[in-house]
Amino acid sequence: MRKLYLLLNDEIAKINPEIYGHFTEHIGGVIYSGIWVGKDSKTENINGFRKYIIDKLKAINCPVIRWPGGCFAEMYNWRDGIGDFRPVRHSFWTKIDGRYESNEVGTHEFAEFCESVGTKPYFAANMTTTTPQEIFEWFDYCMSDEDTTTLAKERKENGRSKPYDIPYWGIGNENWGGGGNMTPEAYIDLYRKYSSVLKSMKFDTKLFACGSDADNFDWTMRFCEAYKDAYKCIDGYTMHYYCRCDGECIEYSDDDWYEQIKRAMYMDDIIKRNWNIISAYGMTDHLKLVVDEWGTWHKPDSGPSKGKNLYEQQSTMRDAMVTAITLNIFNNNCDKVIMANVAQLVNNLHCLFLADEENCITTPTYHIFDMFKEHQGAKAIRTLFETDDISYSFDNEEKSIKDLSISASVKDGYLILTAANTGLEKDITLLPEGVGGKLENTAEMTVLSCDDIRACNTFEEPEKIVPTKKTVDISKGITVEKSSIAAIKIKINDEK
Ligand code: AHR
Repeated sequence: MRKLYLLLNDEIAKINPEIYGHFTEHIGGVIYSGIWVGKDSKTENINGFRKYIIDKLKAINCPVIRWPGGCFAEMYNWRDGIGDFRPVRHSFWTKIDGRYESNEVGTHEFAEFCESVGTKPYFAANMTTTTPQEIFEWFDYCMSDEDTTTLAKERKENGRSKPYDIPYWGIGNENWGGGGNMTPEAYIDLYRKYSSVLKSMKFDTKLFACGSDADNFDWTMRFCEAYKDAYKCIDGYTMHYYCRCDGECIEYSDDDWYEQIKRAMYMDDIIKRNWNIISAYGMTDHLKLVVDEWGTWHKPDSGPSKGKNLYEQQSTMRDAMVTAITLNIFNNNCDKVIMANVAQLVNNLHCLFLADEENCITTPTYHIFDMFKEHQGAKAIRTLFETDDISYSFDNEEKSIKDLSISASVKDGYLILTAANTGLEKDITLLPEGVGGKLENTAEMTVLSCDDIRACNTFEEPEKIVPTKKTVDISKGITVEKSSIAAIKIKINDEK
């Protein structure tokens, strides 16, 4: 039995609900056939959007959704997605998958989809093929009060009089790559133009700037250096990290499992090292981290569309494990990370849903977001526990990973503890002990596990991997079985 000390008064910070955010890009089957089925579809829908997904997103308290890309955003003209005439265009992805963008879903549709879900939209603004003027006008069109500007009147003619609430805007996407292939210095120069225009507007919006690709710390250093004179026109520093292995999605070996987990755990280093650079420049009050793309990236074609939808992949217990580890890392770094968006919501990389016409199912990743949702808005606390190393070999190299990932938070008189046993061989029994307060013995425990770690939910068998609930006596220890994830809710006993 391993002791787990829960330092009830040692607060890290409040866990911003937006850490549990999502991402929907106009790519492959994410929008068309994913969230959007069309108003005349036989599939149950709300204004053309799949009702099943809306209901399921409500159930996990979805806090924010990023749109319309990704790389797609860097060739997007927002005017194509308003009014009656929707031009068909080439998109960033046309060369790869041969699909053209119909623009059926645009600003009104997406913002109203967010309203149906009860979530906040996070728009990604193009800075590769547009000018600040066009984004200035998009702000005006979306957010100006009724009947004030000509663009607000145009919005009304298009069916919406009151303004949309778009609290978050990304200025560019991956500008070190697909978004203009810029240097950090060139990006900052351009960012200054955009932000000076957009920050002069009356709207209370947060602007996020394009940060590093994973561990490209050179970008972060040069970014901070170039930005230091213009300090304070950024509200968040975005960062992308895919724990890519590019291997088989389902038929993976045990060593592949461990290597995937090692790469997921690397998120912690990436956060801390970027943060160290930002701290060295004294910019931690403005450059909080926004991890607006993260997830696994396996070989393509494992999803139900069999390759038709670009980057669509299935999701197994391994993807669920990566989700749990990553969310634990975000909770434990919630003093640095203010938002994160898993890529992507449906029919794509690390997704929560797989859909095709009337079929739609949740993946094991969805269940982790459900099990962890109690952390949203809670106070993250520090924990102390021991880990063992698990050894494995990958690419002829001997490697090891820790066998346990944990985070804990306190909300409304309850402790929320989420624990993942990364090993494939041994169960781990934890003996939780409240430090600075007492815990009640009887607790609720939810578990996601499956005897077959390569199993996944399918249209034919949608509930192969679903969570189970039980009541436990924590004074006897909580067993987190091998390759499983547990969420435990424990009442804090405030009697002295
Ligand atoms: O999520 C798929 C793509 O990955 C996104 O469009 C891009 O930003 C990233 O490279």
